[in-house]
Amino acid sequence: MIKCLVHLFLLIDIGCFVLHAVAKTEQVASDSVDLLLEPRCSQLKRHDIEPHLSTKTPYRVVANLDDKPITYSECRPTRIWSVIRHGTRNPSKEHIEGAKSKLGRLKEEILTNPQTKLCPEELARLRRWRFDVNSEEEKYLTSEGEQELEELAERMQKRFPNLLVDEYDPNLYYFKYTKTQRTLKSAESFTSGLFGRENIAPIEYPEAVHKDPVLRFYKLCNKWKIDVDKNPRTFDNSERFLREPEIIDAVNYIRRRTQIQNITAEDAKLMYTICGFETAWYRGQEPSVWCSLFNPDTIKAFEFFEDLEYFWNDGYGYEITHRMACAAMKNMFEHIDPNSNKSNATFYFTHSGTLLKVLAHLGLYKDAEPLTYRDFGRERVWRTSLIDAFATNLAFVLYECNNENGPMVLTLHQERPIRLPGCPQDQDLCSLKTLKEQYEQHVSSCDFDELCHIHRHDEN
Ligand SMILES: *[C@@H]1O[C@H](CO)[C@@H](O)[C@H](O)[C@H]1NC(C)=O
Ligand SMILES: *[C@@H]1O[C@H](CO)[C@@H](O)[C@H](O)[C@H]1NC(C)=O
Ligand SMILES: *[C@@H]1O[C@H](CO)[C@@H](O)[C@H](O)[C@H]1NC(C)=O
Repeated sequence: MIKCLVHLFLLIDIGCFVLHAVAKTEQVASDSVDLLLEPRCSQLKRHDIEPHLSTKTPYRVVANLDDKPITYSECRPTRIWSVIRHGTRNPSKEHIEGAKSKLGRLKEEILTNPQTKLCPEELARLRRWRFDVNSEEEKYLTSEGEQELEELAERMQKRFPNLLVDEYDPNLYYFKYTKTQRTLKSAESFTSGLFGRENIAPIEYPEAVHKDPVLRFYKLCNKWKIDVDKNPRTFDNSERFLREPEIIDAVNYIRRRTQIQNITAEDAKLMYTICGFETAWYRGQEPSVWCSLFNPDTIKAFEFFEDLEYFWNDGYGYEITHRMACAAMKNMFEHIDPNSNKSNATFYFTHSGTLLKVLAHLGLYKDAEPLTYRDFGRERVWRTSLIDAFATNLAFVLYECNNENGPMVLTLHQERPIRLPGCPQDQDLCSLKTLKEQYEQHVSSCDFDELCHIHRHDEN
């Protein structure tokens, strides 16, 4: 396999750097073989796994359990606008089927291989492992997902008890979800948290649409679809990273643990994904048995692969991706404006793709340089595990104050105050005026159709 890689690199990229890196990996691999002679249980603990699952990270990793009211003297919160990603869900059909077939076969291969380095406990757990999710229920919200949303609502209500009153009133509240099971169930769980499970029947929802212009604006942006989402170049960095030493090490580690030499990076990626889902689903149980094929470094390598993919597809990689989030920002300014006749509390139940694009629109979690396949070892603030976990939420809270500053805005991400670029960095509140000035240009000139229109000359 290493030989193949060397040949491949020689063909497509005669870089000394690469050859050196591959040679180095080989060295490291043979050095650590001795350590693995005896079967041994993985030393990986829940806290080594959960915070590194990228967009499959359960919300409990990032939740803020401090639910004290957030008060500022002379001010009272009167409006809130929030976008919330659905909670922990089932995998896609593709991953469900991959788990059943590929991991099912690998399970048998591991269990029948007398050379295995997995310890007896792990083998026993693997023997019991089955993947029971039905493809018909792809991406459905799981019970952990319901709990995430319900608990989030309860804490938000404790923080803003006068604004988020515990009796449903259609003039005060506006809830909307996209046309998917997982956001619908997320809305129901959240409203159960606010009003009690037995009181959610009367809630009025607007008609859910698949391509909602505010909740899921990118689904309407043909230019983004063509230039970014369906553009193979978007995935250059993440694909390239799959051939870097960090991933080669991770695959070799799995090969040594299982003593199955033909496991590929693709197989390892699927193991990481299923390790993530199965761990996210159950807060009280042991992490997924598939996680025991990783160590603290190798799990971070796959996390970085995901960070790269999301950076280029949904984040800062291409300008149009975050610019078009003006569609959501415009809606936010309309809803928190104290003079508008909108409901006081607006909650949108939506998707990862929306949250990431909005965060990037705001200029948050932006590293000095674009993220590339070379940056694994560097510090970075673009960490999807922290900024885009399941049930990730962003909220703008308007405070009306008895002072000369006019209305003020508090921004919360994952339930914690954050300070936006252009706003004071020494306090949580930013005046609505400053906030508008900071984002005005993009919002007032938010010509979504123009931005997303495919011009004729682009088509060639
Ligand atoms: C590895 O090779 C064996 C023998 O050819 C095959 O049966 C098995 O499915 C392969 N495993 C993987 C993970 O590709
Ligand atoms: C709703 O918003 C209006 C206008 O901003 C405000 O006067 C009113 O007090 C708010 N209601 C609640 C319950 O905060
Ligand atoms: C706000 O005003 C517009 C225009 O007058 C009206 O169509 C809309 O129903 C009002 N919305 C609410 C929530 O009162």
